[in-house]
Amino acid sequence: MKKMILTTGGLGFIGSHTVVDLLNEGYDVCIIDNLSNSHIEVLSYIQQITGKMPKFYQGDVRDNALLEKVFSENDISAVIHFAALKAVAESVVKPLLYYEVNIDGTIAILKAMQKHHVHNIIFSSSATVYGDPKVLPCTEDTPIGEIKNPYGETKLINEMLIKDFVKANEGMHAILLRYFNPIGAHASGLIGEDPKDIPNNLVPYILRVAAKKIDHLTVFGDDYDTPDGSCIRDYIHVCDLAHGHVLAIKKILTIEEPLKIYNLGTGKGTSVLELVNAFKKVNHIDLPYVIGPRRAGDATASYASIDLAQKELGFAPKFSVEDALKDAYHFLIKHEEGSKN
Ligand code: NAD
Ligand code: UD1
Repeated sequence: MKKMILTTGGLGFIGSHTVVDLLNEGYDVCIIDNLSNSHIEVLSYIQQITGKMPKFYQGDVRDNALLEKVFSENDISAVIHFAALKAVAESVVKPLLYYEVNIDGTIAILKAMQKHHVHNIIFSSSATVYGDPKVLPCTEDTPIGEIKNPYGETKLINEMLIKDFVKANEGMHAILLRYFNPIGAHASGLIGEDPKDIPNNLVPYILRVAAKKIDHLTVFGDDYDTPDGSCIRDYIHVCDLAHGHVLAIKKILTIEEPLKIYNLGTGKGTSVLELVNAFKKVNHIDLPYVIGPRRAGDATASYASIDLAQKELGFAPKFSVEDALKDAYHFLIKHEEGSKN
């Protein structure tokens, strides 16, 4: 029988690509999303890509009545909990909102799992838990903490919460996935990263500049201790990241250990200036930028060791940063065309 996977936030950037991969791999999928940072059209794009329509429940993960309905109507094998707020700058201004949505949301999901005897949860954590790592690459044993914003704190607290939950509830399993920097879009150009507000993250910002909606990019600092002075990150194609979730689902349905933690990145660092130049080169367009001051709280360099995910999940990213930048631009062009029609 097909396994049913509940994805919270399944219409968002990473969630939608993961839903596509799950459906293609033969899983049934249901989604809870309140559309606070996604669009309902994504549902039909998922159907166009896969030929299958996931079950969709519109609403908040903190709505206990909704959770009761979803968990009663579906025989759920595992939950992938993506739903959260993720804008770092906003979290500094609205900490209560971030703690409320990101922590109460997880507590509500864990309670529903407990009540309905659902034993497996995969959680969207972040490389942000490593703060400004002293030694690179980051392994899963790199010390965590020293986080400088409420968004990052919510990821750390969620990790602790889930660790304590599986410890206290025999038979429960959790996998914490620490994502590095997901970029790119599905090759169809139908789904990609489409934030509702002005983006904070580098590639969505670059796309707004490429679309001439913003006149230039500001590179946050060129005086870091890196070869070209700009910060280094581990940019992973969102389809590779999505596939990491399918591998994690296969793992969680068979593991005995209550808790596993995996980095999902590529293992390769790319600087901001390298990324900007690669975007221009692969897409044959100019991208105006200026060098600005450092952004508070930025780590100089962060990239993953993915040895553990490779060894235990069979995780092997297929796409390069150039592929991801091409796909991101293709998504932009396709959406620009779509909005003109
Ligand atoms: P996203 O904003 O595109 O997707 C999140 C989805 O969750 C959206 O569709 C939104 O509408 C929904 N949502 C938010 N709050 C909700 C709520 N209370 N109830 C129901 N639905 C809700 O973000 P994303 O980039 O796809 O990120 C997914 C997860 O991965 C998040 O937990 C994020 O913190 C984490 N993460 C993202 C990145 C990244 O760079 N994108 C990096 C590390 C970790
Ligand atoms: C940021 C968050 C991190 C979060 C992740 C996903 C911070 C300090 N970290 O990671 O907690 O998990 O997003 O939401 O905010 N850059 C520019 N100009 C821009 C935008 C970015 O130069 O307009 C640079 C940044 O300085 C950084 C790199 O691009 O060096 C990547 O930035 P971003 O995409 O925001 O990701 P992170 O900072 O790695």
